[in-house]
Amino acid sequence: MGWRGILGFEYGIVCAPLGPDISGPQLVAAVANAGGLGLLRAPDWESPDYVRELIRKTKTLTNKPFGVGVVLAFPHKENIKAILDEKVAVLQLYWGECSEDLVLEAHQAGVKVVPQVGSFEEAKKAAAVGVDAIIVQGREAGGHVMGQDSLISLVPRVVDLVHGKDIPIIAAGGIVDARGYVAALALGAQGVCLGTRFLATEESFAHPTYKRKLVELEATEYTEVFGRARWPGAPQRVLKTPFFMDWRDLPSNENESNQPIIGRSTIHGIEKEIRRFAGTVPNVTTTGDIESMVMYAGQGVGLIKEILPAGEVIPRIVKAAQILIQQQLDNGS
Ligand SMILES: Cc1cc2nc3c(=O)[nH]c(=O)nc-3n(C[C@H](O)[C@H](O)[C@H](O)COP(=O)(O)O)c2cc1C
Repeated sequence: MGWRGILGFEYGIVCAPLGPDISGPQLVAAVANAGGLGLLRAPDWESPDYVRELIRKTKTLTNKPFGVGVVLAFPHKENIKAILDEKVAVLQLYWGECSEDLVLEAHQAGVKVVPQVGSFEEAKKAAAVGVDAIIVQGREAGGHVMGQDSLISLVPRVVDLVHGKDIPIIAAGGIVDARGYVAALALGAQGVCLGTRFLATEESFAHPTYKRKLVELEATEYTEVFGRARWPGAPQRVLKTPFFMDWRDLPSNENESNQPIIGRSTIHGIEKEIRRFAGTVPNVTTTGDIESMVMYAGQGVGLIKEILPAGEVIPRIVKAAQILIQQQLDNGS
């Protein structure tokens, strides 16, 4: 089985773009320096100069290639232009249609296109427009969740779908260690995309209280309580914090738009008010009632016992995966 690299990267380990700004230059550079694919996250509004700045700052921290994630549900055309101008290695796309024109434009700029999908149908569309790899997100995943299928059934179906085409499949959802990585390889994936594990690193831009909760709490839930007004129809997997448990049955006519302001954050250089039930996780700049803010996490969070340097996450997983694969082979002979 191949624990080797994908898309020209040394290893098949991807750090998910973590919105709104949690996978910033420090985290992405640390992942790149360790041989993985780190993905910055573009703002949810047009801000091409800021996107350029973000990319250039990351380039001062690493000489290795990296990428940028864009959520297509929000304004993005100018941001994508800036990303292609800056010639990052990978443009990651989520929550919207990845068109053939966009893939061609990116390829002309020398940028690889990697959408994240949550269903077989979406994977089919992505494969048909010539993307370079597909991230398959299972329902186990932290953050917004596109589909209903688990990785164990969805990944092999997508692997069969792209059989014979040069499109590596990358599994995302609930994977935090070598066991998850090797399991994904066994399903036919060539890489894994980790969100929650990289959220719980020293370099992530998450608020310290959020990081502490990732270590302390073990359970998550699939919900639609947060961010209903700003991003309707976008369910999420969140940590079962005391705040969430108090409000998990929020009536469907309620949303964040008329709720009290519970804090403030600077997000991609802009100061924002955070209302109760907003879909915005607390970052390092956030002040106010942090414990009452949404905290996204995947089902693997119960396996996270410590905050690690991001540069350690990758070699730990790769080394343990090599041993695991070797042991399985030995046992079988
Ligand atoms: C805090 C957080 C923010 C996320 N933001 C994004 C995003 O902006 N774009 C995206 O494609 N995926 C986003 N995701 C989802 C990841 O791409 C990925 O599917 C997920 O993290 C995998 O599951 P895991 O968290 O169990 O590793 C986010 C996940 C988390 C935990």
